[in-house]
Amino acid sequence: MKLVQAERIAKGAEAVIFKGTFLKEVITIKQRIPKSYRHPEIDQRIRLQRLRSEAKVMTSARKLGVSVPSLMGIDLRNFTLILESLDGILLYEKMDTLPVDELHPIFSNLGTQIGLLHKNDIIHGDLTVFNVLVQPEDEPSIIDFGLGRISNELEAKADDILTFYSTLKAIQPASKILFNTFLEGYLSEYQEGKKTYEQMKKIQSRARYVAREDRLE
Ligand SMILES: Nc1ncnc2c1ncn2[C@@H]1O[C@H](COP(=O)(O)OP(=O)(O)OP(=O)(O)O)[C@@H](O)[C@H]1O
Ligand SMILES: [Mg+2]
Repeated sequence: MKLVQAERIAKGAEAVIFKGTFLKEVITIKQRIPKSYRHPEIDQRIRLQRLRSEAKVMTSARKLGVSVPSLMGIDLRNFTLILESLDGILLYEKMDTLPVDELHPIFSNLGTQIGLLHKNDIIHGDLTVFNVLVQPEDEPSIIDFGLGRISNELEAKADDILTFYSTLKAIQPASKILFNTFLEGYLSEYQEGKKTYEQMKKIQSRARYVAREDRLE
C-alpha cells in the first residue's frame, strides 16, 4: 500500500500543488519548484526561506483563530509543505457565482480575519482574491503565506489591503462597496486599523497611475 496517494491539481507561480490522501485524511501538498531565471544557490535560498515563512506564519495565524489550513508536515529537503485540504472555491470564482448582495458577509468575515492578523503584526504579503478560499457555508479561509512575515510596519499592513483592493477592482465592478464592507470588518476587529487605511490612501495618491475615479474617499 502506498502511504501517500496524490495527483497534481494546480501549478502556481512558484509551486505545484498535489491533492492526495494520507492515512485516510485528504491532504494538499505544496512543493516549491526551481525557477530557472534565478541563480541555483539563490533559488534554493529563496525557496527555503518562503517555505519556512509560510509554515511559521500559517501556524501563528491559526493559533489566533484565523481560518487557515492546518500544517500537517514540512519537508525542507523537498521544499514541501503538507497541508490540510480545504473544500471550496477561490474567492474570485465565488464572485462569479453569487450576486453582490450575497458576497457582503464573506467580505465582512474576511476583513475581520485580516484585522486579527494585522492586530497581531502578521502580514500576509500577497493578499489577493486568488489567495482566499471560500469554504461551504461561505467561510473564507486564507492561503498562500509564502510572502508572509511578522512585522508591525504600517506600510506593510497598508500594502496588504491595497493589494487586496487592487485585485478586487480588476475583476469586480462593485469593488468599492465590497471593499468598504471588508474595511468595516477590518476596523471592527482592529481599531488601530484606521491608520492602515490612511496609509493605504497615501500610497495610492503617491501612485500617479491611480485613476481619479478609483480613489477611495
Ligand atoms: N490547503 C489547501 N486546500 C485546498 N486547496 C489548496 C490548498 N492550498 C492550495 N490550494 C490550491 O492550490 C492553488 C495554489 O496554491 P497557493 O496559492 O498556495 O500557491 P501559489 O499561488 O503557487 O503559491 P505562491 O504564490 O506562493 O507561488 C490554490 O489556488 C488552491 O486552488
Ligand atoms: Mg496563490
